Amino acid sequence: MSTTAFDAIIIGAGAAGLFCAAQAGQRGLKVLLLDHSPRIAEKVRIAGGGRCNFTNRDLDPRAPQRHFVGENPNFCRSALARYTPAQFIALVDRHGIRWHEKHKGQLFCDDSSQQIIDLLLAECQAGGVTRWQPCSVQGVTHADGLYRIETQRGPVQAPQLVIATGGLSIPQLGATDFGYRIAEQFGLRLVAPRPALVPLTFGGEAWAPYAGLAGLALPVRMATGSKKSRMEFLEDLLFTHRGLSGPAVLQISSYWTPGAPLQIDLAPGVDAAEALQAAKRDSRKRVANELAALMPARLADAWAASDEALQRPINEAGDKALSRLAERISRWEITPSGSEGYKKAEVTAGGVDTRELSSQTLESKQPGLYFIGEVVDVTGWLGGYNFQWAWASAHACAQAL
Ligand code: FDA
Repeated sequence: MSTTAFDAIIIGAGAAGLFCAAQAGQRGLKVLLLDHSPRIAEKVRIAGGGRCNFTNRDLDPRAPQRHFVGENPNFCRSALARYTPAQFIALVDRHGIRWHEKHKGQLFCDDSSQQIIDLLLAECQAGGVTRWQPCSVQGVTHADGLYRIETQRGPVQAPQLVIATGGLSIPQLGATDFGYRIAEQFGLRLVAPRPALVPLTFGGEAWAPYAGLAGLALPVRMATGSKKSRMEFLEDLLFTHRGLSGPAVLQISSYWTPGAPLQIDLAPGVDAAEALQAAKRDSRKRVANELAALMPARLADAWAASDEALQRPINEAGDKALSRLAERISRWEITPSGSEGYKKAEVTAGGVDTRELSSQTLESKQPGLYFIGEVVDVTGWLGGYNFQWAWASAHACAQAL
């Protein structure tokens, strides 16, 4: 079978692969983009509840460690500085896509994620990109400066190969460890992948008192880590049947290490001890009813029910019992037993070790082999940071191809 030649082959037609293919094609390169999945950019489609949180205006490329996790959070600085949220917003505007800001700089489509997919496809078309999909890859070899890819549609070759196959999250949407295997094949190190932006679970017995709270949501301050590595988020918490979810937990999960406790302030910004003492002076309502001024009534009931000494009007409650309660409200400490894993994780932390890559071009120490997007050990916070990394790393790579 004859081998078709391209200037660059990109494996993985998700956010990063599509954007890189479009930019390289528009620079005049003959580009092949291939993906084993029959459907295009599935993660863009489901992102942001179907409205794709496509970037974040608060991103500061000069301080990437504020919003990115990885062994070297500074690695992404160069790419993020050369392709900014403002540049992607300008592109979205050129395509006539209406958008809005939700909170904390998060930008969403007004209508549908499909508009971002259409934008990516139109940009690929403008670059004359050849897209083969579905098309599985059987193997990759490198000889005489050329990468030869054995595909379902026959062999292809190019001097440059870009791996944009993402991480392991949501295997039912086609996620595979392909990128990690290619890195290993060419002797490049990996940072052990792990689920991130993921709900956390809690052991059977220990969780029993809270299982009845499933569905309840409230704003909290959540922290983990030692004094030196402490991270905290002021976000919403959601109780589930198996544990905790919601933005506060998804964010903290990227920093959580197995066995470490979480500290949760259930009434952030309130001095719970002071509030309970003030209520004791002025009120004859039951403790649970007074507590409901600080948190949802269902949670207040559950917290008051945990202590016999609190089953009375607040003015009759002992100071010790009230201070125990205040401590549990402002510093509830609980240790997850695990996470919901890749099935529910929005992203995969870890991946191709950034020490193996150029921060300018995303080229690896293996000449002509590039890694972009989530497959790299760069993980953004919830809120559009991961797509901005996909766009920026794709752009940096495309300029170098
Ligand atoms: P991506 O996973 O998008 O694409 C990889 C592609 O490679 C896929 O098309 C896959 O089929 C293909 N592939 C894999 N293995 C292959 C193989 N062996 N052969 C050929 N092709 C292969 N981020 C954000 O910034 N804002 C948001 O709103 C959200 N929302 C969100 C919701 C949910 C439910 C999830 C799971 C994730 C998000 N994210 C997000 C994260 C975001 O979707 C993610 O970081 C990017 O899609 C990563 O882009 P990549 O192109 O690197 O991988």
